[in-house]
Amino acid sequence: MIKTRPPLLEVEGLKTRFYLDEGTVHAVNGVTFTVRAGETLGVVGESGCGKSVMARSILRIVRPPGHITAGKILYHRTIGNQRESVDLTKLDPRGTEMRAIRGLEISMVFQEPMSSMSPVHSIGQQIVEAIHVHKDVTKEAAWQEAVEMLANVGMPEPQRTIQRYPHELSGGMCQRAMIAMALCSYPDLLIADEPTTALDVTTEAQILQLMRDLQHRFGMAILFITHNLGVIAQMTERVIVMYLGRVVEAARVEDIFHRPHHPYTQALLRSVPRLGQKVHGQRLTSIRGNVPNAYVIPQGCPFHPRCQEMRPGRCDRVEPPWLQASVDQWVRCVLYQ
Ligand SMILES: Nc1ncnc2c1ncn2[C@@H]1O[C@H](COP(=O)(O)OP(=O)(O)OP(=O)(O)O)[C@@H](O)[C@H]1O
Ligand SMILES: [Mg+2]
Repeated sequence: MIKTRPPLLEVEGLKTRFYLDEGTVHAVNGVTFTVRAGETLGVVGESGCGKSVMARSILRIVRPPGHITAGKILYHRTIGNQRESVDLTKLDPRGTEMRAIRGLEISMVFQEPMSSMSPVHSIGQQIVEAIHVHKDVTKEAAWQEAVEMLANVGMPEPQRTIQRYPHELSGGMCQRAMIAMALCSYPDLLIADEPTTALDVTTEAQILQLMRDLQHRFGMAILFITHNLGVIAQMTERVIVMYLGRVVEAARVEDIFHRPHHPYTQALLRSVPRLGQKVHGQRLTSIRGNVPNAYVIPQGCPFHPRCQEMRPGRCDRVEPPWLQASVDQWVRCVLYQ
């Protein structure tokens, strides 16, 4: 089923670096993956593994001193009944083509909602503007649609809240406004970066349901970045696991949970409480050590200094190739060679 869908976004060997006085941050260090039309691809990995920088690179909103230094971001769009492929890394980030894709065809829900909204426009003005980008409707009709979208994302008193400015909203309300803004253009690809972290579980469930509805109705694909493995289990079909700017495993969601291959994926799963498991009085295991800073990526497998399966002389020397472990499961680890 999933296989028959055409690829919508193919990221190949993407590298994004920040050139700072202290050194070069290798935030995204050769990431490859595909999002197919209409599917939800989950992205997991500890803090600092490059998930947000990867997402921002796709939208071409990484600001200097950050730069894409290698790789391709092939976006396959359908215009009329023509398929056309464009490498987003080749576009001028501020040019008309990239601006048209951004927000209209690919939109993003940011991890920090406040920073991505204009402080000097009411949320109504901002959502109406987003609606007007793709629809030629009267201001009144767009305003009405904005109110409805705000109601859809569970905004309390949408008629009234729509007139407010971002700084007048709570974190959760701001997040909902941003989700409404991202969804009102009915994008082909939604990049959701921790979209529901500031929300209570009821609102979270409502928003996840709304995303699934839009996906079924309009065939929207979602790149879903989250630390919440419960949400991954609920929302995604396939998952990529990132570590230090690399994808170390890619598999169907059930294989990630039931047959994780990479020692890093296994450690990630051990570090969260099982759904329904009592955690009271029980210490959660965490992965030993910390994510090293991304200035100097360890030689060999980037995870080897923290890996319980580390083979000296091998894992600390040569980076393992991308190996196919089974039909739908790929892993970057010598254990599967
Ligand atoms: N503007 C920036 N300037 C310099 N370094 C940056 C910048 N933005 C991100 N980085 C660095 O790039 C690396 C990847 O950061 P990123 O925000 O993508 O991580 P993440 O996986 O999204 O983490 P989290 O789960 O906490 O959101 C980190 O080492 C981070 O410090
Ligand atoms: Mg992030």
